Amino acid sequence: MTTQVSASLIATLPGRAYTDPEVFEREQEHVFEALWVCAVRAADLERPGAYRTVQVGRESVLVTRARDGALRAFLNVCRHRGARLCADAEGEVRRGLRCPYHAWTYGLDGKLLAAPNLTRMPDVDRSAYGLVRVALREWLGYVWVCLADEPPSFEGTVVAEAAERLGDAAAVERYRPGELALGRRVTYDVRANWKLIVENFMECYHCATIHPELTDVLPEFTKGFAAQYYVGHGAAFGDGVRGFTVDGSAGFGRLPGVADDQDRRYYAITVKPGVFVNLVPDHVILHRVFPLAVDRTVVECDWLYAPGVVASGADLSKSVELFHRVNEQDFAACERTQPAMSSRAYRHGGVLVPTEHHIGLFHAWVTGRIGSL
Ligand code: FES
Ligand code: FE
Repeated sequence: MTTQVSASLIATLPGRAYTDPEVFEREQEHVFEALWVCAVRAADLERPGAYRTVQVGRESVLVTRARDGALRAFLNVCRHRGARLCADAEGEVRRGLRCPYHAWTYGLDGKLLAAPNLTRMPDVDRSAYGLVRVALREWLGYVWVCLADEPPSFEGTVVAEAAERLGDAAAVERYRPGELALGRRVTYDVRANWKLIVENFMECYHCATIHPELTDVLPEFTKGFAAQYYVGHGAAFGDGVRGFTVDGSAGFGRLPGVADDQDRRYYAITVKPGVFVNLVPDHVILHRVFPLAVDRTVVECDWLYAPGVVASGADLSKSVELFHRVNEQDFAACERTQPAMSSRAYRHGGVLVPTEHHIGLFHAWVTGRIGSL
């Protein structure tokens, strides 16, 4: 008996998809500026007056916490002559956000509060020149934003995709990442196209080659099947492994919401376009992917633990080190691949082996959004 597999599941995208600035522009427009993007962790904006700026597609987006406690998002553009309002990645203001160019000042709710000589400018309708709002949702303790004029349903896209991968809508919420504390954050500046990073995360064909520490903890990964390959599958810890740590030593206590059948298991989900979540019994790891150029992507990775663990000053190093090494190994592989994307050897792309066929679905999703390559 022969098995028919459609060609789109066997071939990768051509090299140009990873190097052509015109393709990248279309991805920014039809993927990152059209869908919900996980922007910042809500707890990073705990105090009223706090703000963060984040790159979403080709826009700088400003997320604020106002006096009323509400989170809001705006385009980080002054309505007067277009100066970037906040140049820093984060900050805190007392009264409002003051443009460094001519000192127009906006409230944390985006309203134009003051401008020099505003009373002598009767032709400027103050209410018409507030900051431009961006749609915002809070989920899993993160602020998700969408630049589209009419954002797609959050439940129908982000939540549905996470639920579909885990086979259970509540599975990821059971870890209650929004109630956890940030133990460590590492920002990786990766010299590779964002799709190489997503594709890498989706497969485990490379695990036996480049992830010795991870396969020691999760022996089934040596077979090459990623957790994302199945629906609702948690990879079991190996016999003798006590915790999800770099040497298999004990981690911390099980998070309160984690069910018995989730214990001693690792789950991984990808929420398109650029969020990877790893769930293990005592912590959650969440990656956010920010494409900056066709060959450059920033990945921000948070390790989240029970608040008591972080407050106690416990040594997190063995726990963090495991996935930090995985990240470094993965990103080195992506950076090794990127230069070859412009080689004539890769003009027509490469091959997806059977354990990678689900990457073909990702490619179909991207090309479905941006049109033909
Ligand atoms: Fe911002 Fe003029 S550009 S006040
Ligand atoms: Fe990997």
